[in-house]
Amino acid sequence: MSYILAIESSCDETAASVCNDGIILSNIIASQKIHEQYGGVVPELASRAHLQAIVPVVDTALKKADVNLNEIDAFAFTQSPGLIGALLVGTEFAKSLVLACNKPLIAVHHMQAHVLANLIQSPGKKNKIPSFPFLCLTVSGGHTQIVLCEDYLQMKVIGETLDDAAGEAFDKSAKILGLPYPGGPLIDKYAKNGNEKYTFPEPKIDGLNFSFSGLKTAILYFIRDEKNKNENFVAENMEDICASIQSRIISILLNKLKKAADETGIKNICIAGGVSANSGLRNAFEKLGKKEGWKTFIPAFEYCTDNAAMIAITGYYKYLNKMFDNLSVVPSARAIF
Ligand code: KG4
Ligand code: ZN
Repeated sequence: MSYILAIESSCDETAASVCNDGIILSNIIASQKIHEQYGGVVPELASRAHLQAIVPVVDTALKKADVNLNEIDAFAFTQSPGLIGALLVGTEFAKSLVLACNKPLIAVHHMQAHVLANLIQSPGKKNKIPSFPFLCLTVSGGHTQIVLCEDYLQMKVIGETLDDAAGEAFDKSAKILGLPYPGGPLIDKYAKNGNEKYTFPEPKIDGLNFSFSGLKTAILYFIRDEKNKNENFVAENMEDICASIQSRIISILLNKLKKAADETGIKNICIAGGVSANSGLRNAFEKLGKKEGWKTFIPAFEYCTDNAAMIAITGYYKYLNKMFDNLSVVPSARAIF
Protein backbone atom coordinates (compact mmCIF):
# COMPACT_ATOMS: atom_id res chain seq x y z
CA MET A 1 0.00 0.00 0.00
CA SER A 2 1.62 3.27 -1.10
CA TYR A 3 0.48 6.87 -1.08
CA ILE A 4 2.06 9.39 -3.46
CA LEU A 5 1.51 13.14 -3.18
CA ALA A 6 2.14 14.91 -6.50
CA ILE A 7 2.56 18.58 -7.37
CA GLU A 8 2.22 20.21 -10.81
CA SER A 9 3.27 23.83 -11.41
CA SER A 10 4.79 23.93 -14.91
CA CYS A 11 2.62 26.69 -16.36
CA ASP A 12 -0.54 28.45 -15.16
CA GLU A 13 -2.19 25.71 -13.10
CA THR A 14 -1.23 25.01 -9.47
CA ALA A 15 -2.27 21.42 -8.87
CA ALA A 16 -1.88 18.64 -6.29
CA SER A 17 -3.07 15.05 -6.21
CA VAL A 18 -2.87 12.03 -3.92
CA CYS A 19 -2.89 8.51 -5.33
CA ASN A 20 -3.05 5.17 -3.54
CA ASP A 21 -1.50 2.26 -5.46
CA GLY A 22 -2.21 4.05 -8.72
CA ILE A 23 -5.82 4.97 -7.87
CA ILE A 24 -6.40 8.74 -7.80
CA LEU A 25 -7.93 9.86 -4.50
CA SER A 26 -7.84 13.61 -5.10
CA ASN A 27 -7.13 15.96 -8.00
CA ILE A 28 -7.11 19.65 -7.02
CA ILE A 29 -6.43 22.38 -9.58
CA ALA A 30 -6.24 26.17 -9.06
CA SER A 31 -6.29 27.85 -12.48
CA GLN A 32 -4.65 31.26 -12.67
CA LYS A 33 -7.09 33.82 -14.04
CA ILE A 34 -4.63 36.74 -13.96
CA HIS A 35 -3.26 35.96 -17.45
CA GLU A 36 -6.57 36.44 -19.29
CA GLN A 37 -6.13 40.21 -19.49
CA TYR A 38 -2.67 39.83 -21.10
CA GLY A 39 -3.69 37.42 -23.88
CA GLY A 40 -1.18 34.76 -22.75
CA VAL A 41 0.69 33.44 -19.72
CA VAL A 42 3.02 36.04 -18.09
CA PRO A 43 5.82 33.94 -16.51
CA GLU A 44 6.57 36.18 -13.51
CA LEU A 45 2.88 36.49 -12.63
CA ALA A 46 2.54 32.70 -12.93
CA SER A 47 5.36 32.15 -10.39
CA ARG A 48 3.79 34.57 -7.91
CA ALA A 49 0.35 32.98 -8.29
CA HIS A 50 1.87 29.51 -7.69
CA LEU A 51 3.45 30.79 -4.46
CA GLN A 52 0.06 31.98 -3.23
CA ALA A 53 -1.85 28.86 -4.23
CA ILE A 54 0.48 25.99 -3.41
CA VAL A 55 -0.17 25.62 0.33
CA PRO A 56 -4.01 25.63 0.11
CA VAL A 57 -3.95 23.39 -2.99
CA VAL A 58 -1.73 20.73 -1.35
CA ASP A 59 -3.71 20.97 1.87
CA THR A 60 -7.01 20.46 0.01
CA ALA A 61 -5.60 17.50 -1.93
CA LEU A 62 -4.61 15.77 1.34
CA LYS A 63 -7.97 16.52 3.00
CA LYS A 64 -10.00 15.36 -0.02
CA ALA A 65 -7.98 12.10 -0.08
CA ASP A 66 -8.44 11.79 3.70
CA VAL A 67 -4.71 11.17 4.10
CA ASN A 68 -2.25 12.76 6.58
CA LEU A 69 1.08 14.15 5.44
CA ASN A 70 2.93 11.55 7.54
CA GLU A 71 1.16 8.71 5.67
CA ILE A 72 2.64 9.82 2.31
CA ASP A 73 5.31 7.40 1.01
CA ALA A 74 6.87 9.63 -1.68
CA PHE A 75 6.57 13.14 -3.11
CA ALA A 76 6.42 13.61 -6.89
CA PHE A 77 6.71 16.91 -8.74
CA THR A 78 6.94 18.21 -12.31
CA GLN A 79 10.61 18.83 -13.05
CA SER A 80 10.36 19.72 -16.77
CA PRO A 81 9.49 21.10 -19.25
CA GLY A 82 7.74 24.37 -18.38
CA LEU A 83 8.27 27.94 -17.23
CA ILE A 84 11.38 27.90 -15.07
CA GLY A 85 10.06 30.20 -12.33
CA ALA A 86 6.79 28.26 -12.15
CA LEU A 87 8.61 24.90 -12.01
CA LEU A 88 10.86 26.20 -9.22
CA VAL A 89 7.89 26.77 -6.90
CA GLY A 90 6.67 23.16 -7.18
CA THR A 91 10.20 21.75 -7.06
CA GLU A 92 11.21 23.60 -3.90
CA PHE A 93 7.87 22.87 -2.23
CA ALA A 94 8.24 19.14 -2.95
CA LYS A 95 11.82 19.20 -1.63
CA SER A 96 10.76 20.85 1.62
CA LEU A 97 8.08 18.19 2.14
CA VAL A 98 10.73 15.51 1.53
CA LEU A 99 13.04 17.14 4.08
CA ALA A 100 10.25 17.46 6.64
CA CYS A 101 8.88 13.92 6.20
CA ASN A 102 12.11 12.10 5.29
CA LYS A 103 10.54 10.29 2.32
CA PRO A 104 11.75 9.82 -1.30
CA LEU A 105 11.57 12.54 -3.95
CA ILE A 106 10.44 11.72 -7.51
CA ALA A 107 11.03 14.08 -10.46
CA VAL A 108 8.47 13.72 -13.26
CA HIS A 109 8.57 14.70 -16.94
CA HIS A 110 5.40 16.63 -17.73
CA MET A 111 4.98 15.22 -21.27
CA GLN A 112 5.50 11.63 -20.07
CA ALA A 113 2.81 12.34 -17.48
CA HIS A 114 0.34 13.59 -20.12
CA VAL A 115 0.77 10.24 -21.91
CA LEU A 116 0.31 8.20 -18.72
CA ALA A 117 -2.92 10.10 -17.94
CA ASN A 118 -4.40 7.36 -20.13
CA LEU A 119 -3.61 4.84 -17.35
CA ILE A 120 -5.38 6.76 -14.58
CA GLN A 121 -7.98 4.88 -12.54
CA SER A 122 -10.44 6.63 -10.22
CA PRO A 123 -11.91 4.87 -7.15
CA GLY A 124 -14.90 2.68 -7.99
CA LYS A 125 -14.53 3.17 -11.76
CA LYS A 126 -12.90 0.42 -13.83
CA ASN A 127 -12.11 2.28 -17.06
CA LYS A 128 -10.33 0.58 -19.95
CA ILE A 129 -6.63 1.38 -20.20
CA PRO A 130 -4.23 0.69 -23.08
CA SER A 131 -1.81 -2.22 -23.13
CA PHE A 132 1.75 -1.82 -24.43
CA PRO A 133 2.91 -0.92 -26.99
CA PHE A 134 0.65 2.03 -27.74
CA LEU A 135 0.86 5.28 -29.66
CA CYS A 136 -0.14 8.57 -28.06
CA LEU A 137 -0.87 11.83 -29.83
CA THR A 138 0.06 14.37 -27.14
CA VAL A 139 -1.35 17.78 -27.95
CA SER A 140 -0.92 20.67 -25.52
CA GLY A 141 -0.21 24.39 -25.42
CA GLY A 142 3.53 23.85 -25.79
CA HIS A 143 3.87 20.46 -27.51
CA THR A 144 2.52 18.32 -30.33
CA GLN A 145 4.04 14.86 -30.40
CA ILE A 146 3.36 11.32 -31.50
CA VAL A 147 4.86 9.12 -28.81
CA LEU A 148 5.58 5.40 -29.11
CA CYS A 149 5.09 4.04 -25.61
CA GLU A 150 6.76 0.64 -25.10
CA ASP A 151 6.42 0.45 -21.33
CA TYR A 152 5.36 2.67 -18.41
CA LEU A 153 8.48 4.80 -18.57
CA GLN A 154 9.90 3.82 -21.96
CA MET A 155 8.74 6.35 -24.53
CA LYS A 156 10.07 7.53 -27.87
CA VAL A 157 8.92 10.67 -29.72
CA ILE A 158 8.43 9.57 -33.35
CA GLY A 159 6.88 12.80 -34.63
CA GLU A 160 6.61 16.38 -33.40
CA THR A 161 5.82 19.90 -34.47
CA LEU A 162 8.48 21.90 -36.26
CA ASP A 163 7.00 25.22 -35.09
CA ASP A 164 3.75 25.97 -33.20
CA ALA A 165 1.99 23.41 -31.02
CA ALA A 166 -1.64 22.44 -31.73
CA GLY A 167 -2.77 24.35 -28.61
CA GLU A 168 -0.93 27.42 -29.86
CA ALA A 169 -2.66 27.04 -33.23
CA PHE A 170 -6.00 27.14 -31.39
CA ASP A 171 -4.99 30.02 -29.09
CA LYS A 172 -3.35 32.17 -31.79
CA SER A 173 -6.32 31.65 -34.16
CA ALA A 174 -8.64 32.69 -31.33
CA LYS A 175 -6.55 35.82 -30.76
CA ILE A 176 -6.89 36.74 -34.46
CA LEU A 177 -10.67 36.43 -33.98
CA GLY A 178 -10.49 38.75 -30.93
CA LEU A 179 -11.26 35.98 -28.41
CA PRO A 180 -9.60 35.99 -24.94
CA TYR A 181 -6.81 33.62 -23.80
CA PRO A 182 -6.90 30.62 -23.74
CA GLY A 183 -8.96 30.55 -26.92
CA GLY A 184 -8.92 26.77 -27.55
CA PRO A 185 -12.00 25.99 -25.43
CA LEU A 186 -13.88 28.96 -27.00
CA ILE A 187 -13.16 27.79 -30.56
CA ASP A 188 -14.46 24.37 -29.45
CA LYS A 189 -17.66 25.99 -28.10
CA TYR A 190 -18.39 28.10 -31.21
CA ALA A 191 -17.47 25.26 -33.59
CA LYS A 192 -20.24 23.07 -32.13
CA ASN A 193 -22.87 25.26 -33.85
CA GLY A 194 -20.92 26.02 -37.02
CA ASN A 195 -20.34 24.53 -40.47
CA GLU A 196 -16.95 23.96 -42.09
CA LYS A 197 -17.63 26.65 -44.68
CA TYR A 198 -14.08 27.92 -45.21
CA THR A 199 -11.12 25.83 -46.35
CA PHE A 200 -7.67 26.42 -44.89
CA PRO A 201 -4.54 24.75 -46.35
CA GLU A 202 -3.04 21.52 -45.01
CA PRO A 203 0.78 21.82 -44.77
CA LYS A 204 2.92 19.33 -46.68
CA ILE A 205 5.43 18.13 -44.09
CA ASP A 206 7.50 14.96 -44.50
CA GLY A 207 7.26 11.98 -42.17
CA LEU A 208 5.40 12.15 -38.90
CA ASN A 209 6.20 15.78 -38.10
CA PHE A 210 3.69 18.63 -37.94
CA SER A 211 3.62 22.34 -38.77
CA PHE A 212 0.99 24.88 -37.76
CA SER A 213 2.63 28.23 -38.54
CA GLY A 214 1.38 28.30 -42.17
CA LEU A 215 -2.18 27.70 -41.01
CA LYS A 216 -1.95 30.63 -38.60
CA THR A 217 -0.71 32.93 -41.41
CA ALA A 218 -3.46 31.71 -43.78
CA ILE A 219 -6.10 32.47 -41.13
CA LEU A 220 -4.59 35.91 -40.45
CA TYR A 221 -4.70 36.93 -44.16
CA PHE A 222 -8.15 35.39 -44.70
CA ILE A 223 -9.64 37.37 -41.79
CA ARG A 224 -7.84 40.57 -42.86
CA ASP A 225 -9.21 40.28 -46.44
CA GLU A 226 -12.76 39.44 -45.33
CA LYS A 227 -12.77 42.30 -42.82
CA ASN A 228 -11.77 44.70 -45.62
CA LYS A 229 -14.98 43.68 -47.41
CA ASN A 230 -17.19 43.55 -44.31
CA GLU A 231 -15.96 44.87 -40.95
CA ASN A 232 -18.45 42.67 -39.09
CA PHE A 233 -17.32 39.49 -40.87
CA VAL A 234 -15.91 37.82 -37.73
CA ALA A 235 -18.88 38.61 -35.47
CA GLU A 236 -21.38 37.50 -38.15
CA ASN A 237 -19.59 34.25 -38.99
CA MET A 238 -17.83 33.29 -35.73
CA GLU A 239 -19.34 29.78 -35.53
CA ASP A 240 -18.50 28.83 -39.14
CA ILE A 241 -14.98 30.31 -38.89
CA CYS A 242 -14.30 28.34 -35.68
CA ALA A 243 -15.71 25.12 -37.16
CA SER A 244 -13.46 25.56 -40.22
CA ILE A 245 -10.30 26.28 -38.18
CA GLN A 246 -10.98 23.41 -35.78
CA SER A 247 -11.67 20.99 -38.60
CA ARG A 248 -8.32 21.77 -40.29
CA ILE A 249 -6.32 21.45 -37.04
CA ILE A 250 -8.02 18.08 -36.41
CA SER A 251 -7.32 16.78 -39.92
CA ILE A 252 -3.63 17.78 -39.65
CA LEU A 253 -3.38 15.87 -36.35
CA LEU A 254 -5.31 12.77 -37.30
CA ASN A 255 -3.75 12.32 -40.76
CA LYS A 256 -0.32 12.07 -39.12
CA LEU A 257 -1.62 9.81 -36.35
CA LYS A 258 -3.05 7.43 -38.97
CA LYS A 259 0.28 7.48 -40.83
CA ALA A 260 2.07 6.60 -37.55
CA ALA A 261 -0.36 3.74 -36.89
CA ASP A 262 0.04 2.41 -40.45
CA GLU A 263 3.84 2.60 -40.27
CA THR A 264 4.20 0.97 -36.84
CA GLY A 265 1.28 -1.48 -37.15
CA ILE A 266 0.20 -0.47 -33.63
CA LYS A 267 -3.54 -0.49 -33.01
CA ASN A 268 -3.71 0.72 -29.39
CA ILE A 269 -3.98 4.46 -29.88
CA CYS A 270 -4.37 7.24 -27.28
CA ILE A 271 -4.65 10.99 -27.25
CA ALA A 272 -3.58 13.24 -24.36
CA GLY A 273 -2.84 16.85 -23.38
CA GLY A 274 -5.00 19.97 -23.18
CA VAL A 275 -6.15 19.84 -26.80
CA SER A 276 -7.47 16.30 -26.28
CA ALA A 277 -10.24 18.02 -24.29
CA ASN A 278 -11.51 19.34 -27.67
CA SER A 279 -14.88 17.76 -28.41
CA GLY A 280 -14.36 17.82 -32.19
CA LEU A 281 -10.99 16.02 -31.86
CA ARG A 282 -12.42 13.45 -29.43
CA ASN A 283 -15.31 12.63 -31.81
CA ALA A 284 -13.16 12.56 -34.96
CA PHE A 285 -10.56 10.38 -33.19
CA GLU A 286 -13.21 7.84 -32.09
CA LYS A 287 -14.70 7.79 -35.60
CA LEU A 288 -11.31 7.25 -37.25
CA GLY A 289 -10.47 4.56 -34.68
CA LYS A 290 -13.65 2.64 -35.54
CA LYS A 291 -12.88 2.84 -39.26
CA GLU A 292 -9.27 1.71 -38.79
CA GLY A 293 -10.01 -1.04 -36.25
CA TRP A 294 -8.03 0.69 -33.47
CA LYS A 295 -8.58 0.37 -29.74
CA THR A 296 -8.89 4.05 -28.79
CA PHE A 297 -8.26 5.69 -25.40
CA ILE A 298 -8.88 9.25 -24.20
CA PRO A 299 -8.24 10.41 -20.61
CA ALA A 300 -11.24 11.66 -18.64
CA PHE A 301 -11.79 15.35 -19.34
CA GLU A 302 -10.19 16.50 -16.04
CA TYR A 303 -6.98 14.59 -16.82
CA CYS A 304 -6.48 16.15 -20.31
CA THR A 305 -5.51 19.71 -19.39
CA ASP A 306 -2.70 20.24 -16.86
CA ASN A 307 -3.33 18.39 -13.58
CA ALA A 308 -1.37 16.66 -10.83
CA ALA A 309 -3.15 13.29 -11.10
CA MET A 310 -1.03 12.56 -14.17
CA ILE A 311 2.09 13.48 -12.16
CA ALA A 312 0.90 11.17 -9.35
CA ILE A 313 0.36 8.18 -11.68
CA THR A 314 3.80 8.68 -13.27
CA GLY A 315 5.30 9.12 -9.80
CA TYR A 316 3.66 5.85 -8.77
CA TYR A 317 5.32 3.87 -11.59
CA LYS A 318 8.68 5.50 -10.78
CA TYR A 319 8.10 4.62 -7.09
CA LEU A 320 7.51 0.96 -8.01
CA ASN A 321 10.84 1.02 -9.88
CA LYS A 322 12.58 2.89 -7.02
CA MET A 323 13.47 5.71 -9.42
CA PHE A 324 14.15 8.35 -6.77
CA ASP A 325 15.92 11.70 -7.03
CA ASN A 326 18.09 13.47 -4.48
CA LEU A 327 17.68 17.00 -3.18
CA SER A 328 20.18 18.41 -5.66
CA VAL A 329 17.73 17.86 -8.55
CA VAL A 330 16.83 21.11 -10.34
CA PRO A 331 13.93 22.01 -12.65
CA SER A 332 14.54 22.50 -16.35
CA ALA A 333 12.53 24.63 -18.81
CA ARG A 334 13.42 22.37 -21.72
CA ALA A 335 13.70 18.61 -21.59
CA ILE A 336 13.81 15.59 -23.84
CA PHE A 337 12.68 12.07 -23.02
O1 KG4 B 1 -1.92 20.47 -21.50
P1 KG4 B 1 -2.31 21.88 -21.25
O2 KG4 B 1 -3.34 22.15 -20.19
O3 KG4 B 1 -1.07 22.75 -20.89
C1 KG4 B 1 0.17 22.59 -21.49
O4 KG4 B 1 0.92 21.68 -21.06
O5 KG4 B 1 0.42 23.36 -22.45
O6 KG4 B 1 -2.81 22.47 -22.65
C2 KG4 B 1 -3.28 23.77 -22.77
C3 KG4 B 1 -3.75 23.98 -24.20
C4 KG4 B 1 -4.13 25.44 -24.50
O7 KG4 B 1 -3.54 25.80 -25.73
C5 KG4 B 1 -5.65 25.39 -24.60
O8 KG4 B 1 -6.20 26.35 -25.47
C6 KG4 B 1 -5.86 23.99 -25.14
O9 KG4 B 1 -4.93 23.20 -24.44
N1 KG4 B 1 -7.23 23.50 -24.90
C7 KG4 B 1 -8.12 23.30 -25.90
C8 KG4 B 1 -9.32 22.89 -25.27
N2 KG4 B 1 -9.12 22.85 -23.91
C9 KG4 B 1 -7.81 23.23 -23.71
N3 KG4 B 1 -7.99 23.44 -27.22
C10 KG4 B 1 -9.08 23.16 -27.96
N4 KG4 B 1 -10.27 22.77 -27.44
C11 KG4 B 1 -10.44 22.61 -26.11
N5 KG4 B 1 -11.60 22.21 -25.61
ZN1 ZN C 1 0.57 20.12 -20.12
